[in-house]
Amino acid sequence: MAILITGIAGFVGVNLAQELLRHGQRIFGIDNLSRGTLENLTGLNGHANFAFAEVDITNLPNFRSTIRQFELTENITEIWHLAANSDIPAGFNDSTVDLKDTFMTTFNTLLVMKEFGIKSLAFASSSAIYGDHGDVPLVENLGPLLPISNYGAMKLASEAAISVAAESYLSSAFIFRFPNVIGIPATHGVMLDFVRKLKSKPRELDVLGNGSQQKGYLHVEELVDAMLFIRNHSQEKVSVYNIGADDEGVTVKFIAETTVKAVSPQAQIVYGEGNKGWVGDVPKFVYSIDKLKKLGWTPKLGSEQAVLKAIQQIVTQESLR
Ligand SMILES: NC(=O)c1ccc[n+]([C@@H]2O[C@H](COP(=O)([O-])OP(=O)(O)OC[C@H]3O[C@@H](n4cnc5c(N)ncnc54)[C@H](O)[C@@H]3O)[C@@H](O)[C@H]2O)c1
Repeated sequence: MAILITGIAGFVGVNLAQELLRHGQRIFGIDNLSRGTLENLTGLNGHANFAFAEVDITNLPNFRSTIRQFELTENITEIWHLAANSDIPAGFNDSTVDLKDTFMTTFNTLLVMKEFGIKSLAFASSSAIYGDHGDVPLVENLGPLLPISNYGAMKLASEAAISVAAESYLSSAFIFRFPNVIGIPATHGVMLDFVRKLKSKPRELDVLGNGSQQKGYLHVEELVDAMLFIRNHSQEKVSVYNIGADDEGVTVKFIAETTVKAVSPQAQIVYGEGNKGWVGDVPKFVYSIDKLKKLGWTPKLGSEQAVLKAIQQIVTQESLR
C-alpha cells in the first residue's frame, strides 16, 4: 500500500516524505516543479520505497495516467494533497494563479480519488481561510469565514469540495489549517526573503510594512509530527484542526533584527509603512490550537525558538548555494 503526495518537491512535501519513508511507508510523489525543485528531492531519490513523477495535476489526463503508472507496482490508499500556489501576493496580480494551482489541484485530486477508489485524503489548508478577525481567537468553528486573499478563498473552496466528497466517496478526510511554517528546504517566506536580500545588499534590509506584524511560527519538523498525530488519532470523518505555535508569536521586527545579526550585522533595517506586508496579509492573529492540545499534541518549540532555529538553517542552506 502506498501514499501519494502532491507538491512533494516543495518545502513541506520533502519533510513529510522523509518522515513517512523513515516509518517504512511506500511513497509516490508528484510535482510540476513550478516552485519545488529536483534538488529538494535529492535525499529521497534512490530510496527503494520512493518514486517521483513530474506532472502538473491540473492536467487531468496526465494526472490519471501517472496514477495508473504508479499503481502498476502498488495500490494507493491515501493521498496527501500539498500542491498549491504558495506565493500569496502573486494571486493578486493574477487571480487565475490560485484558481488553477490552489483550487483546481484539489478538485482534480478529488476526481482521481473517486475514479481510482482512493478513500483517505489529508489536505494542507491554511489560517488564510479565516480572514482578518483582529483579536478574536481563530478557532476551528469560527464564522463567518471571509478570506482576504485569493489564496485563502481557494483554500476555503477546497475545504468545501473535500466536505462534499466525504459525504459520498471518501472514508476519511483530514484538513490541517496551519499559519506560518518555517525550516528547510525553504522555498519562500519572510526569512528566506531577508537572507537573500542581505546577501545581495549587505548594508541595508528593506522590510515590507512597519515590522509590527506579529504571527506564530511553527517549525516544519513539528508540523509533520502534528499532522501524523492527527491522522493517527482523530476519529472524525472530516477532521479539521488548526496546527500552530502555542503562543502569541513574534514580530517581523524581531525576525529582521535576528536575521541581520546572523547574516550582516552592519546592515541598517529600513521599514516600510503600515502594518501589512502586502495586500491580503493578516497583520496579527490569535491562533487557537486548543482542539489539537485536547487530542494530545502540543508543540515543543515556541515561535521564538522556531524562528532562531530556522534562520540558522536557512543561512546555512543559502551559503551552500
Ligand atoms: N509553508 C507554509 O507556511 C504554509 C502555510 C499554510 C499552508 N501551507 C500549505 O502547505 C502546502 C505546502 O506548502 P509549501 O510551503 O511546501 O509550499 P511549496 O511552494 O514549497 O510547495 C508546493 C508545491 O506544489 C507544487 N505545485 C504547485 N502547483 C502544482 C500543480 N499544478 N501540479 C503539481 N504540483 C504543483 C509546487 O511546485 C511546489 O513544489 C501548500 O498547500 C500550502 O498552501 C503552507
